[in-house]
Amino acid sequence: MSGSIEASAFITCIILALGLVKPLIQALQYTDNLAMAGSTVKEISGLLEEEELDRPHKPVKLDNSQVSFENVGFGYGDAEVLHGVSFKAVPKGMTAIVGPSGSGKSTVARLIASFWEAKSGAVRIGGVDVRELPLSQVMETISYVSQDTFLFHLSVHENIRIGRPGATDAEVISAAKQASCHDFISALFQGYDTILGDGGGSLSGGERQRIAIAGAILKNGPIIILDEAA
Ligand SMILES: Nc1ncnc2c1ncn2[C@@H]1O[C@H](COP(=O)(O)OP(=O)(O)OP(=O)(O)O)[C@@H](O)[C@H]1O
Ligand SMILES: [Mg+2]
Repeated sequence: MSGSIEASAFITCIILALGLVKPLIQALQYTDNLAMAGSTVKEISGLLEEEELDRPHKPVKLDNSQVSFENVGFGYGDAEVLHGVSFKAVPKGMTAIVGPSGSGKSTVARLIASFWEAKSGAVRIGGVDVRELPLSQVMETISYVSQDTFLFHLSVHENIRIGRPGATDAEVISAAKQASCHDFISALFQGYDTILGDGGGSLSGGERQRIAIAGAILKNGPIIILDEAA
């Protein structure tokens, strides 16, 4: 109004100033994403930097599928979780491990599946110390359904087929029927072709676990570990 700046320059300034807002907001969003990427990278590199289990590569012949613990001691850090645990799970039988929350039941399951190794004593499969078995052989022998089931962002069909890649559709459906999940899968919008959310978000915990059990049935390994599977 006092003529210190021409009207054309004034309008240009206002338009340019408005244009600044969007990139500024975008830049702010990126700092959020960068922080998130930073913490994710830290978690992943922590896992990648873990020392690999030192296992042989040549498969060992197992006499049977007995799982046994001999005086096993184990702790995640300094505190011991399992103290001198011994038991035998007879082949073709069912062994239940019962105990209060936090007593170490899932830990026992993880030691059988070689996710961790015993600090003392021995975990044996078919009479052989698991430390003398190649990891791939342990994985082939054991079907493990964990307490916190994770499903992949894939169809129901593909999630079950992870148990045995190459299984036919009919075999997948038959395993689903045995795990009592055929009915709720059929009721889903696209049945077996329904894509499950990351982590299987759209299904209940029990339904997710049943799908994991179907995968374990499909795999048909000699040893099945069900961690709190109803
Ligand atoms: N990854 C881990 N790192 C450190 N400590 C752990 C880890 N997993 C379990 N623990 C600890 O080990 C102990 C045994 O845990 P575990 O999960 O084996 O118990 P649980 O008997 O399966 O319990 P629940 O019945 O609640 O499933 C707990 O004190 C727990 O806090
Ligand atoms: Mg548990």
